[in-house]
Amino acid sequence: MLRTARLRLRPFTDADAGPLFALHSNARVLRYWDSPPWQEPARAQQFLATCRQIAEEGTGARLAMEHAGDGGFLGWCGLTRFDPTHRSASLGYVLGEAAWGRGYATEGAGALLQWGFGTLDLNRVQAEADTRNPASARVLEKLGFVHEGTLREDCVVDGVVSDSWVYGLLRREWDAAGHLTTR
Ligand SMILES: CC(C)(COP(=O)(O)OP(=O)(O)OC[C@H]1O[C@@H](n2cnc3c(N)ncnc32)[C@H](O)[C@@H]1OP(=O)(O)O)[C@@H](O)C(=O)NCCC(=O)NCCS
Repeated sequence: MLRTARLRLRPFTDADAGPLFALHSNARVLRYWDSPPWQEPARAQQFLATCRQIAEEGTGARLAMEHAGDGGFLGWCGLTRFDPTHRSASLGYVLGEAAWGRGYATEGAGALLQWGFGTLDLNRVQAEADTRNPASARVLEKLGFVHEGTLREDCVVDGVVSDSWVYGLLRREWDAAGHLTTR
């Protein structure tokens, strides 16, 4: 469990299946995602099983994000593809529309990055954002990520080909920004 001023980031439970399906079946939320919106509620169960597997294997964390005040489900953020040899991982996040524009993604991902650099001892975190998704790029820039390039024709979703920006954040940059992870 990670806490911020306004949020709790906690492991998913089976009770999250409904809100999770509502989130991932919303075409506006999934507009720039690398796979189409879910159509079958069973997809939520698959997602939850993968979350458990990631936790058991120690290959990262995908955490539900909820409002600290009323406990309302806001979405999730995750550090996945943890590579202990290279001490790297990938960051991702999805929030429901009602939660957009309040700084929640930046706040939640910031807590996850602090855990990643501090506890997992990461050296590098990578993130990709669809080049049509400036809000996601802005979240990464606010967190201190550096734009490293463009992955051309990175995704094909329902026949639509899109490019992705690739961003990276290094441990020394996180430290230099005053987040104090130095061992
Ligand atoms: C991308 C997403 C996570 C952002 O969440 P959020 O909680 O609204 O993000 P924040 O409030 O922390 O920051 C958003 C920033 O983007 C800016 N922004 C929003 N829409 C924008 C747009 N169309 N153009 C430029 N900037 C935009 C906001 O102004 C804000 O920047 P600011 O603080 O400098 O004003 C959210 O929109 C989302 O879940 N989208 C659907 C899923 C998704 O695309 N995930 C990312 C996949 S890589």
